[in-house]
Amino acid sequence: MLQKLNEVKTEFDSLIDSVSAMPDMAQFKADYFGKKGKLNALMGGMRDLSVEDKKSFGAKANEVKQDMLSAIDKRSQVIELEAINSKLEKNRQDISWTEKITDRGQQAAGLHPLTKVTRELEDIFLSMGFDILDGPHIENEYYNFEALNIPESHPARDMQDTFWFKDKKHLLRTHTSNLQIHGMEVKKPPFKFVGSGKVFRCETLDASHEAAFHQLEGMMVGHDIAVPHMIHFLRTLLSEIFKSELKVRLRPGFFPFVEPGFELDYECLLCGGKGCSVCKQVGWVEALGCGMVHPSVLRSGGIDPNEFNGFAFGLGIDRLTMMRYHIDDVRHLHSGNLQFSEQFRAY
Ligand code: DAH
Repeated sequence: MLQKLNEVKTEFDSLIDSVSAMPDMAQFKADYFGKKGKLNALMGGMRDLSVEDKKSFGAKANEVKQDMLSAIDKRSQVIELEAINSKLEKNRQDISWTEKITDRGQQAAGLHPLTKVTRELEDIFLSMGFDILDGPHIENEYYNFEALNIPESHPARDMQDTFWFKDKKHLLRTHTSNLQIHGMEVKKPPFKFVGSGKVFRCETLDASHEAAFHQLEGMMVGHDIAVPHMIHFLRTLLSEIFKSELKVRLRPGFFPFVEPGFELDYECLLCGGKGCSVCKQVGWVEALGCGMVHPSVLRSGGIDPNEFNGFAFGLGIDRLTMMRYHIDDVRHLHSGNLQFSEQFRAY
């Protein structure tokens, strides 16, 4: 009987590793442990053994049985793992397309040069304690003109060719100076804020004129603010943007919402003031309009001009971006041409 048991076990050991699927394993198990299985058949023979032999054979048979069962468990785990692996292998997804995209010359997105310059400007003002405001592109006359001391009959309305809506009441803002009025409505002086965005003018397009372009507006209102404060902030701004100490100069300029009003120029960085094609041989480049906020503008914002005063400025972001990156035609900025914008990814 013992010999028989050993034979069954040897056969079992030699066969188990060739079982390679779970249904086959169920059959294999039944071959040994089923009702008509080989082990049961052996056990049936125990009837003829003496009590002593029954005991010793029973113990041995039990031991062998446990070994076989645990071998079946182990082999089953291996079979299941192999099944999972082969399923994964079959369903494998080809994700090498990410590399293929790069092969085709498409790369991760980058920021547009206008966005980069705008963010840099905002960061500089944030570091100087300014808040950042946003305002609408679609305006009414009040915010774009009237509250800024540009009444209906004022010739300054014709200085900027306005896109009007059919209702003749609404317009696309012609400058970001509308932010001055919106800002004063929500802030109590003293305050200082900047805001930027698109502005629109019905222009004849050429290398330096676009119908939609970008400005940044700033306003600082408080007690005893004077022109030197304004110059300090604006020179700091330009020096930070161009990463070098800049010489600036003020010229008188007319803007109805400031008095006195100025145009601020900086010494041309390309020729150091000697004169070149970029500065049109004058050695200076126009940077922005600025001035001390007109008392009637303060009043529009509900601020008493006898108690508070301040400065405001507006600069063209497109021109600054062109200077910064040596771009010779403003129309490139809106062309949507990837060959153009891709040049700025690394900056
Ligand atoms: N809004 C003016 C323009 O579009 C720019 C400007 C000039 C803004 C003087 C100002 C300022 O705040 O004080 O031409």
